[in-house]
Amino acid sequence: MRKGIILAGGKGTRLYPLTSVVSKQLLHVYDKPMVYYPLSLLMFANIRDILVISTPHDLPKYEELLGDGSDFGLNLSYKVQLAPRGLPEAFILAEDFLDGAPSALILGDNIFFGSGIPPLLEKVSADREGMHIFSYLVQDPREYGVVEINEKREVISIEEKPQNPKSNLALTGLYFCDHQAPALAKALKPSARGEIEIIDLMKQYHKIEQLKMQQFGRGTAWLDTGNPDSLLDASNFIATIERRQGFKVACLEEIAFNKEWINRETLERLAEKQRNSFYGKYLYTLLGY
Ligand code: G1P
Repeated sequence: MRKGIILAGGKGTRLYPLTSVVSKQLLHVYDKPMVYYPLSLLMFANIRDILVISTPHDLPKYEELLGDGSDFGLNLSYKVQLAPRGLPEAFILAEDFLDGAPSALILGDNIFFGSGIPPLLEKVSADREGMHIFSYLVQDPREYGVVEINEKREVISIEEKPQNPKSNLALTGLYFCDHQAPALAKALKPSARGEIEIIDLMKQYHKIEQLKMQQFGRGTAWLDTGNPDSLLDASNFIATIERRQGFKVACLEEIAFNKEWINRETLERLAEKQRNSFYGKYLYTLLGY
């Protein structure tokens, strides 16, 4: 079974002073902590064994918030990243946890929304070979990894935060890898900024013709949370959808309940615990109250 990794490390310096004492991925996006959104994405891919990686300072907070995962029908583990040594280090830190299984790595600040996502993830998750990367069309991709493709939609080149991007296809912070990822990550050499780079891992898979690209369509939202404005926009986007429809985005208890990973009693207990908030009241509505 594929296992999940959430990387919630880093210092979040672009959001100081907001993140001077609180981990970026614990900041709120409207009515819930940011990390709920990437966690929901792994759940949509039917991934239940998940490793959360964060700094020594922040990891205890994630454990306090999410516990062993049983409230969400998950099995959560935790691992410290002592210093930010690059995204592929997540695969190295997760090697024992993965124990030879294929994986899905998601960055803890990536928020996705759209009905096309669960079927796409289920399809990709079933392919246990190679590395799948996920792109999204943006007007200005200079802040992201950028992928260039040919008419057959095969990857031609990948660049990290290029000044002159070769396409408008930005790479999202979601990566599905086969069992080779920890070994390939270990062989990577640090770049000029002293970190191992996710695009270098992609290049390794590209070399062995096992790099595959999926594109999230225009009916999907991939939201940025990199600065105070985009963070506010993300909150407003989620608030608009939730208030208009009356459904919650990334309500982990709801996803687990719908997938029958938790039962009514558990949901009732969680609703009771959070009964003073709108979130808790929403859980009661799922029970038909
Ligand atoms: C990372 C990746 C980049 C990707 C982005 C998506 O950048 O290196 O390729 O496009 O996440 O969120 P970061 O935001 O960590 O600088």
